[in-house]
Amino acid sequence: MTSKPSSASTTPLESLRTAFIESAYTDGAKSFRRGRHLLDTSDLAHDEVDSLIETATLAKRIIRRSKASLDLLTDKVVATVFFENSTRTRSSFDLAARTLGARVINLDISTSSVTKGETINDTAATLIALGVDAIIQRHSASGACHQLLPTIPSHVSVINAGDGWNAHPTQGLLDLFTMMEVGGSVEGKKIAIVGDIKHSRVARSNIRLLVPLGANVHACAPPSLLPEGITEMGVIPHVDLAPALENADFVIALRMQTERQQQGLITSLDDYRKLWRLDHSRMKMAKPTVRLLHPGPINRGVELTPELADDISISLINLQVSNGVPVRMAALLLLLVPEVFK
Ligand code: CP
Repeated sequence: MTSKPSSASTTPLESLRTAFIESAYTDGAKSFRRGRHLLDTSDLAHDEVDSLIETATLAKRIIRRSKASLDLLTDKVVATVFFENSTRTRSSFDLAARTLGARVINLDISTSSVTKGETINDTAATLIALGVDAIIQRHSASGACHQLLPTIPSHVSVINAGDGWNAHPTQGLLDLFTMMEVGGSVEGKKIAIVGDIKHSRVARSNIRLLVPLGANVHACAPPSLLPEGITEMGVIPHVDLAPALENADFVIALRMQTERQQQGLITSLDDYRKLWRLDHSRMKMAKPTVRLLHPGPINRGVELTPELADDISISLINLQVSNGVPVRMAALLLLLVPEVFK
């Protein structure tokens, strides 16, 4: 970043750009930046969440008008380091970083020296030696981002793009952003999370974000897919769909994570469909205005019917994906923008 834009900006886009930059200097934004990393939503204070949502709102208004680079983080380099596959998260972080003007290294793990036994800490150290300012990491092991921290220098941020069953903070934030865009504040709203909650980092990050914001969070799954301690997280658990869906404002369906299943957690996918698959008929148990979210990728016909997934009068799935870009722009801007303009 070279100079603060003139207050004499006149076009709507210039005004939005100015507001976007200024949103990075609120107390909440500065507090978030002092934390340096984004590892989970449980680390976020209320004013930090407010700042991220405000900045993402401005980012969305900007990218609706123009997809051109904002040239704000031109001296920054970010690396996406995905040890697990991704369509949405990686692409939207890449797009978000480039829209902010940063340069991006998308490390291809399958052709990297990880295949020769390089550790995640050595991979991170190598990227930092190359000049990276932020490492956006996804890994199948819970706590993989925390493992990096002792060897991360103070000028580098780590963003958790999903670690095992533990956390996926930007997904939680974009789910919140999407629900707020559709229904305003989540305070007092009934939000039912349905599906494979035990293996879901998305569910954990959503719960850790939504409960402190005053949402009325319910969880519904087969008993073997409800995690221990769910009640202590401030969530009302259910095995039956009806009480979970009754009067719900939002339903967050989760993917059946067959790759993380131990044998025997559910009797069969057919049994799961009979009792827990969401369809139009079951969604009628919720409020008439209910909206459906799903972090993706979806297993069509398992956790929800294709007809429901594709019904844009109910489904917010595509909106969630597109909101991933402004939300990740907000996270990157707030973490990487200099504390003062140079
Ligand atoms: N929601 C989500 O994390 O999707 P991807 O695995 O495609 O990134």
